[in-house]
Amino acid sequence: MTGRLCSRKQRAFYLVFGVVCISIFFLSTSYDSAIPPYSLRDLFPDTYAFDSHPISELIRNANTQWEEYEKQRSKTFRETLAKYRHRYGRHPPPGFMEWYKFARKRKVHNIDDFGQIVDDLRPFWATEPSLLRQMAASLSHDGDGMGGIHIREKKIAKLSHPSWRIETLAALISKMVRYLPDMDIAVNVQDQPRIAVRFEDIQQRLTIEQKSMQLNADAKDHFTEAMDHLLNLTQAQDHWDGQTDPQWFSPPDHQFMEVVKTACPPDSPARVTEMSVEDADRLYKTQLGGFVSNFSLSTDLCTVGPAIKDQHGFLFSAASLVVSQKLLPVFSECKTSVNNDILFPANMYTKKDARYEYDAKFDLRWRKKTDTLLWRGVTSGGVSTEGNWQRLHRQRLVLLTNATLNHNGQVSILSENADGGYEPTSDFNASDFAQNHFDVGFTEHWACDPFDCPFYNGILGVKNQVSLSEQFKSKYLVDVDGHSFSGRWRAFHFGRSLGIKATIFREWHDSRLFAWRHFIPMDNRYDDLYSLMTYFIGAGQTQKEHTHREEQDVAYIHSHDLVGKMIASQSRDWANQVLRHEDIEIYMFLLLLEYGRIMDDNRDKIGYSGDGSELDEFDKKY
Ligand SMILES: *[C@@H]1O[C@H](CO)[C@@H](O)[C@H](O)[C@H]1NC(C)=O
Ligand SMILES: *[C@@H]1O[C@H](CO)[C@@H](O)[C@H](O)[C@H]1NC(C)=O
Ligand SMILES: *[C@@H]1O[C@H](CO)[C@@H](O)[C@H](O)[C@H]1NC(C)=O
Ligand SMILES: *[C@@H]1O[C@H](CO)[C@@H](O)[C@H](O)[C@H]1NC(C)=O
Repeated sequence: MTGRLCSRKQRAFYLVFGVVCISIFFLSTSYDSAIPPYSLRDLFPDTYAFDSHPISELIRNANTQWEEYEKQRSKTFRETLAKYRHRYGRHPPPGFMEWYKFARKRKVHNIDDFGQIVDDLRPFWATEPSLLRQMAASLSHDGDGMGGIHIREKKIAKLSHPSWRIETLAALISKMVRYLPDMDIAVNVQDQPRIAVRFEDIQQRLTIEQKSMQLNADAKDHFTEAMDHLLNLTQAQDHWDGQTDPQWFSPPDHQFMEVVKTACPPDSPARVTEMSVEDADRLYKTQLGGFVSNFSLSTDLCTVGPAIKDQHGFLFSAASLVVSQKLLPVFSECKTSVNNDILFPANMYTKKDARYEYDAKFDLRWRKKTDTLLWRGVTSGGVSTEGNWQRLHRQRLVLLTNATLNHNGQVSILSENADGGYEPTSDFNASDFAQNHFDVGFTEHWACDPFDCPFYNGILGVKNQVSLSEQFKSKYLVDVDGHSFSGRWRAFHFGRSLGIKATIFREWHDSRLFAWRHFIPMDNRYDDLYSLMTYFIGAGQTQKEHTHREEQDVAYIHSHDLVGKMIASQSRDWANQVLRHEDIEIYMFLLLLEYGRIMDDNRDKIGYSGDGSELDEFDKKY
């Protein structure tokens, strides 16, 4: 069943039942005053359609944006070309027609949604192709947390510094290598991003890129052959020449925001020192409840950096961060909003590893799952010390959800008031809620200084391991960053559980996942965690049930279980259309064509310049 069908069905449902309810309402008020007048809200307490909770509006907005996205998809090669040229001011790269056929045969859902690739490569238009080739050759050869894949004569001719990452990526590339020109690909073998160029430098480059846009009618649909400055595979040159020195460094004192700042726009919270955290919050959180209303900003270090610079391990205690402020052509699995790495779909997703691959074995029907939020992990995310561990992002999650710690009065949730509205209250037994609904903890302690983590004793326990497939017994799966991005996030989308996500990392698929339609976004500070979970699970007793009890549990919110079920099922349908292995292949193929073009000495004169009529017949079949 497609997401579209599903939403049509839901609309029909609301319409039919809406009419029934309105009838009941009028019947009850005009003919029999003994029957209380029911509101739509009373009859459908569980839907978001009639509910004034801020999440209802966030869901409606997400649906509108997603429907717009769905409507705009190109159906034919001709449309795809027109859209490409309109958006990017260029012809698509050589080989685009083959890519189009490859993508259609693999049932690509949205043939236009590859803007991430173009955006990642844009700044490189300001560097000479021959210099880019020298950089790629020496980066892949020199080590420094880098490896390389070398394509010659339509084959993968050699790997530099092979490791599981390089080998996994090479296996993926082998599926499309026969369409690719000779190239060296410099691959970051660390899972943390490497490149963060100064804002002003990038702006200058983007201006050059814009000036280089053209749609010349006689562009050649093939790459240039026998170019120089590729790595010599028989006798590799040993060192960088001065011009291409990568200038790697580790941020002083691990303070990554000090580097990030220089890559942020001058008017962003990261650089405007007088902007308070509250001001920054208003850019991406709802006023009532503090829910994330703009996921992209909530993960943007230029916006949230000042608030979380000492709350996320990557930003103040990264274990192995080595970066450069030079624009180098480096392929990475993830990056933050300020990095200039070239994103590719992470190796975990293609390597068929049970820790990262969805498995339906324990993925029960929604109603059979437990009403719990589950998380397991190790104490990674940054080096823990006696003085800093309570500020590391994973440790904060485990502390916040620990029922034996006293959170009462310290967390705020939204409670229903007598008028059917919602208002914030901290008059709520958070420990009790945590006891009943959170199952969160570490399975192992490591990455500490000193290495045996003495400071965790008696405060952080060790819980049983829960395999990825068994995690789907819980309705709610929260996902936070580790050392870098979380490799389980893609798998969460395929299951019947609901994914809840906080991160500062970007991945290849971000533009296709809509917060509040395909997953639940969470603030990196987790200040919305209890509000989110009480929204879905419900909390407290209604006034009626409550009268015989003492003044505890004043907060009350009804369960929105069906909303959770609905989003989980939308996400699952969607993952099966846009996050498949085929989608990863399609992304990688176009990425390498675009990359091949910026590395080509004739990049201004090559590309597909036709009208697309060659594929009119093909399009009728697909
Ligand atoms: C690689 O270097 C060797 C030794 O300098 C040279 O003989 C060979 O022609 C080079 N190969 C290529 C493809 O440039
Ligand atoms: C989030 O904010 C950015 C920057 O203001 C804006 O371009 C984007 O459209 C917003 N996204 C959503 C989903 O509202
Ligand atoms: C909160 O709930 C816990 C566990 O149910 C209970 O022991 C505790 O007394 C409650 N605290 C308050 C302030 O009601
Ligand atoms: C929760 O905190 C208690 C100490 O208050 C600790 O003994 C326990 O191990 C913690 N639980 C987890 C899952 O870390």
